[in-house]
Amino acid sequence: MTVAETTTAPAAAKVPEHFTMTEDEIIAKFPTRLRGFDLYHKMGSPKNIVAPMVDQSELAWRMLSRNYGADLCYTPMFNAKLFANEQKYRNEQWQTNETDKPVIVQFCANDPDILLKAASLVAGQADAVDLNLGCPQHIAKRGHYGSFLMEEWDLVSKLIRKLHENLEIPVTAKIRVFPEVEKTIEYAKMVEAAGAQIITVHGRLREQKGHKTGLADWTKIKAVKDAVKVPVFANGNILYQEDIQRCIDATNVEGVMTAETNLYNPALFTGKVLPTWQLAEEYLEICKDVPTKAAYIRGHLFKLFRYSLPIHTDLRQKLVEVKELDGFRQFVGDMKARLVADAEGSDFDPEAVVVDEFGYRKYPTWICQPALRFEHDKEHSKSKRLLNEAQADTPADDTGCATGSCDNVDNEAKRQKTLDEGV
Ligand SMILES: Cc1cc2nc3c(=O)[nH]c(=O)nc-3n(C[C@H](O)[C@H](O)[C@H](O)COP(=O)(O)O)c2cc1C
Repeated sequence: MTVAETTTAPAAAKVPEHFTMTEDEIIAKFPTRLRGFDLYHKMGSPKNIVAPMVDQSELAWRMLSRNYGADLCYTPMFNAKLFANEQKYRNEQWQTNETDKPVIVQFCANDPDILLKAASLVAGQADAVDLNLGCPQHIAKRGHYGSFLMEEWDLVSKLIRKLHENLEIPVTAKIRVFPEVEKTIEYAKMVEAAGAQIITVHGRLREQKGHKTGLADWTKIKAVKDAVKVPVFANGNILYQEDIQRCIDATNVEGVMTAETNLYNPALFTGKVLPTWQLAEEYLEICKDVPTKAAYIRGHLFKLFRYSLPIHTDLRQKLVEVKELDGFRQFVGDMKARLVADAEGSDFDPEAVVVDEFGYRKYPTWICQPALRFEHDKEHSKSKRLLNEAQADTPADDTGCATGSCDNVDNEAKRQKTLDEGV
């Protein structure tokens, strides 16, 4: 019997037809399954969260990140259809072990039954299953998933509800924001009503990708946080460890998720200033015990050594060609020798890091550091313009610089203010 059939009060008329059970019935069906804040606390009340990242948040990387303060990790997004139907895909993609806790497995999907089938296969090994509603890539458009479901609220609701009514572990969701804050709030409430027990809000629009990535909007994340009862994780704009608490202060969220900066600086959550080769060596040590695809390893090493590879171009070619773990170890050894030599001639003091005119910290190339998207063109970058607009609270002129530019102000403070405002 459906909810619609059993109730007569006017409010009940709004319950979607695909809600085939009441909350009480769901609780009775899964009496020990954790909800909302109970789930959050059972996972250790995570604040430092590693984002789902295709080909990059694999088990070995999650283990490295946990060694450096990650409280919760998401797997890369798995395609529910392939996961449900192809053992080879499943075996290649899904790795876990006893140290890999807490962990949330993420899927993309557009068919509730297939999503349930895929999710059921990890139910005994994960703390929750997350639905990807944020991917903006062309492949997601073609595959009809991720952020391309943002206009299909009924389907989104059906996907989440299917798991909420049938899966042994909780369902969570990761969303992007709409241009309108009210619509974003309504969307998040719909996701919550369908059964999501934690909502991650990536504070960027679907269009904010590639060179248009820009800044995430923390004010919209806060609006969602204020509107829903389940825990909320914020995502976007984390470059340095202090940004995490700043984001929590600005949005009141329970935890902060980071993707790109975790890849470039896996020690981010500790606030430590560490050499890239150290993290690379530790990662490869983990890979000795945890079989990891060469493509993933190569991807990580390219990011860790992002600022050194353009200088040591002969090694870059080596990295392209390497296919075995021993080769990657050799590469890191060679790179380390170069960077140690570079470091010997340097007067860099990790206790006294210099901040540039835009508020970004200056590190030597061998130090783990966030990737600044506009590094190649600070003068004309959209990101910088947005930063300046927020800093000076005045419109940008056509050179990309805000009028009333901020020469005599503490730039770090301005950068912080910008992030606080979540522009
Ligand atoms: C390499 C890479 C892979 C990603 N893969 C996924 C994914 O599998 N699922 C997902 O929801 N988001 C994915 N994202 C988006 C991130 O989870 C995150 O929402 C986005 O990068 C914004 O966070 P950031 O500003 O900390 O980078 C990916 C991002 C990167 C950089």
